[in-house]
Amino acid sequence: MNQLRIIVSSTRPSRIGHKVTQWVSEQAAAEQWEVKILDLAEIDLPFFDEEDMPMKGNYAKPHTQAWASEIFESDAVVVVTPQYNRSFPAPIKNAIDYLFAEWDSKPVAIVGYGWSGASDAAADLTKVLTHVKADVVGEIGLSFPEQLSTEGVVIDGDAAAIELRGLLDTLHRKVLDLDEVPARS
Ligand SMILES: Cc1cc2nc3c(=O)[nH]c(=O)nc-3n(C[C@H](O)[C@H](O)[C@H](O)COP(=O)(O)O)c2cc1C
Repeated sequence: MNQLRIIVSSTRPSRIGHKVTQWVSEQAAAEQWEVKILDLAEIDLPFFDEEDMPMKGNYAKPHTQAWASEIFESDAVVVVTPQYNRSFPAPIKNAIDYLFAEWDSKPVAIVGYGWSGASDAAADLTKVLTHVKADVVGEIGLSFPEQLSTEGVVIDGDAAAIELRGLLDTLHRKVLDLDEVPARS
């Protein structure tokens, strides 16, 4: 089974990000992904504290090495993000900044949520992930209050699930394409 890592980008104590992530995780598990949730509140990375530039890959700190392993070992990543002040929250930027090679060609999908479906957060996140050469395959946005309650309950779950599963299918096809690339000798 393909390995999917789902990142919870918000870290505040009363967040709904983990509820949205749980819903994403259930859909992905039904689509035959082996899912692991990476909760940035639990992982608790300090603000970027490596001496070297991430592009050198010379990670000295155990927390960087552990974070790098999680992303390296995944076949694909879903970033679940709210919109904070018309962009994504700081912890996901910090988590992206820590690494470089691990993002290269990594298939990534974005699930945003907010009053406008987090469209600005998704656009900004796409720009940053594309800069580190991740392969951003697409996004869906859950809008308050029509598709998601402010308490984190998905409304009209069937319609939202169809949209999400379409995105997960795109992600899966991208992983299969990568699998067909011959190994370098
Ligand atoms: C600091 C902050 C800024 C926010 N800015 C926006 C915003 O620009 N657009 C929006 O749709 N919602 C905004 N919201 C509302 C969030 O979408 C909503 O609180 C959501 O539940 C946040 O995700 P979380 O619960 O996982 O932290 C903001 C919330 C916070 C805490």
